Amino acid sequence: MTARKPADPRWYQDAVIYETHVKAFYDGNGDGVGDFQGLTEKLDYLEALGVTCLWLLPFFPSPLRDDGYDIADYRDVHPSYGTLADFSRFLEEAHRRDLSVLIELVVNHTSDQHPWFQRARRSPPGSPERDFYVWSDDDRKFSGTRIIFTDTEKSNWTWDPEAKAFYWHRFFSHQPDLNFDNPAVIEQIERVMKFWLDLGVDGFRLDAIPYLVERDGTSCENLPETHAVIRRLRAFVDRHAPGCMLLAEANQWPEDVRPYFGDGDECHMAFHFPLMPRIFMGLRRESAAPIVDIMRRTPAIPPSCQWALFLRNHDELTLEMVTEDERAYMNLAYARDPRARVNVGIRRRLAPLVENGRRRIELLNALLFSFPGTPIVYYGDELGMGDDVLRPDRDGVRTPMQWRGEPSAGFSSRPPEALYSLPVTDPVYGVQAVNVEAQLADRSSLLHWMRNLIRLRRQFRVFGRGTLEFLPAANPRVLAYVRRLDSDVVLCVANLSRHAQPAELDLSGFEGYTPVEMLGYTPFPRVGRTPYLLTLAGYGFLWFELRREG
Ligand code: BGC
Repeated sequence: MTARKPADPRWYQDAVIYETHVKAFYDGNGDGVGDFQGLTEKLDYLEALGVTCLWLLPFFPSPLRDDGYDIADYRDVHPSYGTLADFSRFLEEAHRRDLSVLIELVVNHTSDQHPWFQRARRSPPGSPERDFYVWSDDDRKFSGTRIIFTDTEKSNWTWDPEAKAFYWHRFFSHQPDLNFDNPAVIEQIERVMKFWLDLGVDGFRLDAIPYLVERDGTSCENLPETHAVIRRLRAFVDRHAPGCMLLAEANQWPEDVRPYFGDGDECHMAFHFPLMPRIFMGLRRESAAPIVDIMRRTPAIPPSCQWALFLRNHDELTLEMVTEDERAYMNLAYARDPRARVNVGIRRRLAPLVENGRRRIELLNALLFSFPGTPIVYYGDELGMGDDVLRPDRDGVRTPMQWRGEPSAGFSSRPPEALYSLPVTDPVYGVQAVNVEAQLADRSSLLHWMRNLIRLRRQFRVFGRGTLEFLPAANPRVLAYVRRLDSDVVLCVANLSRHAQPAELDLSGFEGYTPVEMLGYTPFPRVGRTPYLLTLAGYGFLWFELRREG
């Protein structure tokens, strides 16, 4: 199968992305681990949810010491998750339902079990094989580089007794970094991309992309040489599969992420990392300021590009792109229990972060779905699934999808203790309390509400493609903004406070327009000359289509 040619080359600007791990979604063959067979069986669920694109976490052969981000073979499927034939069948079924599929391209590093590394450590210094990775005789080179996994790593260098040299790694010591100064490495990466493009994938998430190239005397992040590599990978994709999307994982400040879009010749999309903690901060402080400030600091991007927005994902809620004071505040506000912290972040899912407050979950999703960018939903968050901070690393937010109120969560036919991970069992978020079956039967469940929101968002292209303009608000607890695309105008108003708030909006540019509330389709009084008055319930939000009369 070769890649589908999308009808609209900018399809990702209107997408709603759903992030999941194959192992966590559904166990089709009854061995306790989710697999492609199971994921294929559950595609109807995803289609009914309304998402348009699936982002799959790494599913390649791997020793799984970093949950698959430690890849030992780029061109196969981990046997626990199925075979390449299972993958192809899954892809075909996804495409049949008009679901695009985004996979991981983890090329900053490999597993130390990858044959390239095994070959490199045994080859003589200076040989092309050894040169696949970054070596040094001492561990002081590149000393200006920060450590990312601060809980486990003390240095970015590890001694290899076999090679009798240190190798460079930005993440775990079992994940040596590839050497992107070696053209043979880039050629190999292109071959990997071609392999998956030929199978028909619709895009790649470029994992840890700022760290490809190292130079002494720098932070070894965002270097011009790294951007040159990305431009080359983009040109390769454009030649072989136009329409295939590249999504940059660059956990950086907005001005440092901006270059990853290039002149529209690097990545199509990039995560907006700094926005996410500021949404949570704004909510806790009951203040629009942190959100407005970071969006004002966000540079414009080329018209063919798009921000990827998220509330939670498979990692910790990272607090790297905040100031020290903000980090202290976030830890106090959201991770009083130190066990909820990992590295420089908080290992919690969406619902527990807001104490299972339904109105706060809805408000956060309303922001996610109405801000400029493409929203990403982390599996299980559409149900309000919980986590378990007592599990190692980030495992507590990667538990089995909760399909039914049964001990194995309806995820597998095996008993809970035989699953890759025990389902969450606590009384608030456990399988009995939170599961798909119950929420489908309950018309007022979060799942039904999410389906509705996703449908609504998909009807209005302005959300994915329109401009953003904040309205000056007399009330600092209220966030008001206008999204505009040609003649389509949407007004969004959100109350970040737990108490009811008045909003007095200057809509002078829209005199004579009628605001129509979008969830209930209710016309509100016409906009006149005086400030427009609204009352919002605690954590309330309103979306209006602004319609010109006549
Ligand atoms: C992924 C993490 C992973 C790390 C190292 C990240 O950016 O999101 O889950 O541990 O890369 O590969």
